[in-house]
This record gives sequence, C-alpha cells and structure tokens, in this order.
Amino acid sequence: MQFFLNGVLTKVDDLDPNTSLLRYLRTRAKLKGTKEGCGSGDCGACTLLVGQAVETQGKTRIRFRSVNACIALLASVHNRYVITVEGLAKDKLHPAQQAMLDCHGSQCGFCTPGFVMSLAGLYDRQKQNTESNEDTGSALSEAISGNLCRCTGDRPILQAGQEMLNHDYPGLVSESELNQYLEMLSGPTESLASLIEQQDRKIYQPADETELQRLILEHQDAELLCGGTDLVLGITQNFKQHSCLIDVSRVTELLGTSEDEDHLYIGASTPYIDLWPSFSEKSPDFLKLLHRLGSQQIRNRGSIGGNIANGSPIADTPPVLLAWDAEVERVTAAGGKRDWIAISDLYLDYKKTLIGAGQYIARIRIPLQSMQHPHRFYKVSKRFEDDISSVMAAISVRFDELEPDRIADIRIAFGGMAAIPKRALAAESALRGSRIATDDMEAALQTCSAAIAEEFKPMTDVRASAAYRLQLAQNLIRRLVDELGSKQSLDVFSVGAVKHYQPGNLEQGGQTNA
Ligand code: FES
Ligand code: FES
Repeated sequence: MQFFLNGVLTKVDDLDPNTSLLRYLRTRAKLKGTKEGCGSGDCGACTLLVGQAVETQGKTRIRFRSVNACIALLASVHNRYVITVEGLAKDKLHPAQQAMLDCHGSQCGFCTPGFVMSLAGLYDRQKQNTESNEDTGSALSEAISGNLCRCTGDRPILQAGQEMLNHDYPGLVSESELNQYLEMLSGPTESLASLIEQQDRKIYQPADETELQRLILEHQDAELLCGGTDLVLGITQNFKQHSCLIDVSRVTELLGTSEDEDHLYIGASTPYIDLWPSFSEKSPDFLKLLHRLGSQQIRNRGSIGGNIANGSPIADTPPVLLAWDAEVERVTAAGGKRDWIAISDLYLDYKKTLIGAGQYIARIRIPLQSMQHPHRFYKVSKRFEDDISSVMAAISVRFDELEPDRIADIRIAFGGMAAIPKRALAAESALRGSRIATDDMEAALQTCSAAIAEEFKPMTDVRASAAYRLQLAQNLIRRLVDELGSKQSLDVFSVGAVKHYQPGNLEQGGQTNA
C-alpha cells in the first residue's frame, strides 16, 4: 500500500493488516507526536488529518478530515494524504498552533496535538470551503467535540479556535506536494483488491461491487468493515486479530445518496458526514441527532450501513429508520441477488440480523413521505457528544387530515431497551386516535406507559439501570406529547445540566462536554 505522510510518499507491504494507523505511526514511523490516550476513539489524543483528492470549483484539491488514528487501520489510508502534528508547521507555526500558544490552550500538553489537529482541520475547511455542512456557528465546538482535555479546560481552546482564523497560512500542502500526490494517484498502483497480504492475514479493499462479490465468495471467512469505528475496537481493546478483512468503504456503488419519486437512497458505506446535504431540508432533526453520534472524527469515518449491520441494540440510526419505515437492500454475493428487507424485520436477536454469510448491505431507502410527518429523535446519554445512548427514542407521527390534533398513526422505536432496536407496538396503539392537548391524552399516556413497561424489559449495565431506562422511555413519550402540544421542540442543547457553547458565547466559561 502507499500513501503520503507529511509530504513524503510512503510504501508499506510487510505489515499485519490488523495494524492501526496509530501503532504504525508511533512504532514504525517513529512519529510520536500523535498520542495514545483511550485507544478507543473517545479522547481525540490521536487525531490527525486524512486527505483525499476532490474536485471543487473546477480545481483539484485535497479535502482533509479529522480521524482517530487509534481506531483506523493503516490500510484505510491507502492512496490518501496523511498529516500528523509533526507535518503541520511549515516555515512558521500553523495558526492553530500559534493560537493555542497565544491563548494558553495547553497545560500538560497530552491532549494538545489532538486539539491542534482538529482545529487545523477546521481552519483548512473554512479557508478552502471544502465541506458543505459547516456554515453554522457551531463548527468550532463541533470540530473539537471528540477531543477531551483533563487539565486546561475548553474555554482557552475555544478562544484559540476563534483566534486562529485571524492568521494567514499558505495551506496544509504546497502546490508541489499536491502535484506529487496527484502523480502518485495517476501512476501505476498495485491492485486495490489485494492491499496487504502478510503471512496468513489479509485485508482487501475492493473498488466496486463486482470485485466485492468475488472477494466475498473467495474468502468465506472474511469479515466486512467500513469505517471500522467499532470493529477496530476489538483489536485495540480485546487484542482480537482478524485473519481476513474486506474494507467496503471504497466500493463506488455503496457510496453517495440519490432520490427517486418515492425514496431517498443512501449508499451503505456513505460516511455520516456526507449525509448533511441530503437531510438539511428533509430532516434537520436527524442532523441534530447525527451531531450527537460519536464525534466529528467518528462521523468522518462511520457509516449508516455499518451502524445497521453491526446489530448493536444501542446504535443510534436503527430506531430512526424503524420510525421512518425504511428498508435495507441485501445483496447475496453468489449470483448478485438483491432484495429489500424492512428494517423492522432485519433484527433477529442480539447482534443477529438477516444479513447472513456471503451477503452485504448495499443501500438503505427511506420513504420520502415518512420524513414529511412530524418526527422527534431523543438520545439520552451521559456525555452530550461522543457517547453511547442509555436510551434512544425515535418517533414519527401522522395527524388526521380532518382533525389536525388527532394522532392518525404513530411509530415509536427504542434503542437501548431490548436486545435489538425495537418498535413499541402496544405503546403506539395506546396513542393512536388520541388528540393532543386534550383531557383524554393523559389517560392515553398512562396506557402507553403501562404498555412500554409490559413490552420492554431493559437491562441494567454501566450506562443505566433497568428502572431508569424504563422511566426514560416513558418520559420521552410525554416529552413528545408536550412538544407537539406546544408546537415547539425543547432545545436539546440546553436540557438538564448539559450546556453546549457556541463560538462567541465564551463568557459563560467552563467545559463544553458537561
Ligand atoms: Fe483516544 Fe484515539 S487515543 S481517541
Ligand atoms: Fe493536559 Fe489537556 S493540557 S490534558
């Protein structure tokens, strides 16, 4: 495999495919500025920038995105341009570094390279305008949402993030570095289908579905990965070693979104970050939820297909897809047969789905009509960003056309309440036909709460007790009814003790991640 590392063409052909990018950098490349804190994508100490060539405004540029090196496999940067903290300063410090210095944004310094890289990524995107989803004032707090600092606190770091934009900088790569990188991409390259084969361990990176299907058939024992934000945790936390991996993140047919008259189609490998344009008008509520799915580093790599296929009962997107009555396109590699499965039929048991050996998810389709009905997505977690749900509720409501306050239909789905993401069918029945903001609603809510208690037996774990989960689920339905009655959303940015600071609001001080 080959990639650019801080401006230098780097080739690797003798590493175990289970090697993380962070391990390679620190042990092989001897670049120890990228730190290892949690090793699980939670602290951001290992943040670096991964770039790929994109066409914008008629020019080829490199679009850089922040990535957690600890949970990215080295193979994932094949043909990419990697910048670590060592490669940031050119003739002078990068504006992010200078501003951190000027604003006293570092004490022990362990978190600092990660913060600097997240800020440098933001600086580059804002100056080059390479992301379409960063036109809001929250871009700064979002950029460092996956970075934790245990001693300095976020306030001076946020100040540094504002301050850096006042400094000029020639760019992360020079013109000649860009040309060398493009030359590498256009030159002869080894087959993407056999990226690294080391002894009996292999990782493949097919470019299209034909290649993917052939590889699946040839390697029956292979595990599929996309962003790897969960699978690589098994390597870093449980020392699991995979003998054969197939990376589906670059399969062309599995990338991007499209629409026909009835559906929005999402390629299963599309990173979350690329979903913003498709949902900015259709469902700002979904984007609010995505903002809380992992951190920016995770959203840059994680995909909705991976979230579904992983089968986790606390995944964030399956309850939404259940509420919207979405379907997944399952492909059988042998023969290429395709069928659409309702997401409500997909989950069989804990981590068991209808996607069997030799099959994969190609696309997800969401009925356009279902997104037009009022919907709410409530994620309850201990940390605002970069945390796993204790309970996740996704609810879609259709009101009666003649009596606009009467619930004609409702779909309620919970995550974290059962072994699988699950619809609350009896709770839905209890609310169907009720009228918002009337006396009979209280009776309906009580029936609904009883139905949830009957239908769900959540577990107690480190995130929440069973009783707390149950109470949360019941209360979230009450919150929905309150919101629909008052015709406004309770602001998730200021619920409870959690505060989410916007740039320009620094006088409040304190931590962003309460
Ligand atoms: Fe903590 Fe990578 S070391 S996110
Ligand atoms: Fe010490 Fe941030 S400066 S952890």
